[in-house]
Amino acid sequence: MGVSERNNNYHYIISLFIFLIPFFLDNAHCIRFPDRVTQPARDQPDQQHLQTAVFALGSFWRSEAVFGCLPGVVRTTVGYSGGSKPNPEYRSFGDHAESVQVEYDPRLINFRKLLDIFWSSHDPRQVYGQGPDVGNQYRSIIFVNGTEESRMASVSKEQEQTRSRSSIVTTQILQLGTFHPAEPEHQKFELKQNTFLLQLIGNLPEEELERSNLATKLNGYVAELCPPNIQKQIDAKINEIIKKGWPILREL
Ligand SMILES: *[C@@H]1O[C@H](CO)[C@@H](O)[C@H](O)[C@H]1NC(C)=O
Repeated sequence: MGVSERNNNYHYIISLFIFLIPFFLDNAHCIRFPDRVTQPARDQPDQQHLQTAVFALGSFWRSEAVFGCLPGVVRTTVGYSGGSKPNPEYRSFGDHAESVQVEYDPRLINFRKLLDIFWSSHDPRQVYGQGPDVGNQYRSIIFVNGTEESRMASVSKEQEQTRSRSSIVTTQILQLGTFHPAEPEHQKFELKQNTFLLQLIGNLPEEELERSNLATKLNGYVAELCPPNIQKQIDAKINEIIKKGWPILREL
């Protein structure tokens, strides 16, 4: 090893050391690189209280975003439900409908409120599709678990029908059977189109991204499907972080 080479190594070690000093000195404000991090405990809410609802209202990419940032919604998963085909896959899911499973904290949001969001987020009168998406896979379904949910769903459907008699509300009400989660690439699809936000939350590994409450919310935010006040709150939070110098976004 020649003298200059040794010098180079020496310089390298010194600069690395200088570079690292702020990280030791200022732990509280240390800027974290957007790399993989494990989720903090507060992103894993108390599982015991959670309830589950499943809806079909057109493309599941969009459906997931519709429910993602409602206060009380903890997690969303897209999948196939309402049909009989075993082991459905995206390229062949037979008689199933594209669906979203919503896990929610019943102390913060209830089934009735989820029904309101369901009705206001698609056109239940469109036959055989939603908007440009044509096909039986995009049909409108409320999946119910038990008689109380079944009753609430029927009442809300009647209310929806009374809003206009000129066309039929096509929505089916079905007892919840098996919900088949879709392939990873369809989960949090909207968020996955935004690499900046993926970095901002620390490039979570796939399984963590799918279970993350933060990713659930941001998936709705990216699609601009959050309620307006929440959309604004998240905007503000992200702008604040960018101004501060891009640490990792951990909660909203
Ligand atoms: C249906 O509700 C019961 C009681 O709340 C619950 O234990 C069960 O897990 C639910 N079933 C599904 C498929 O969500």
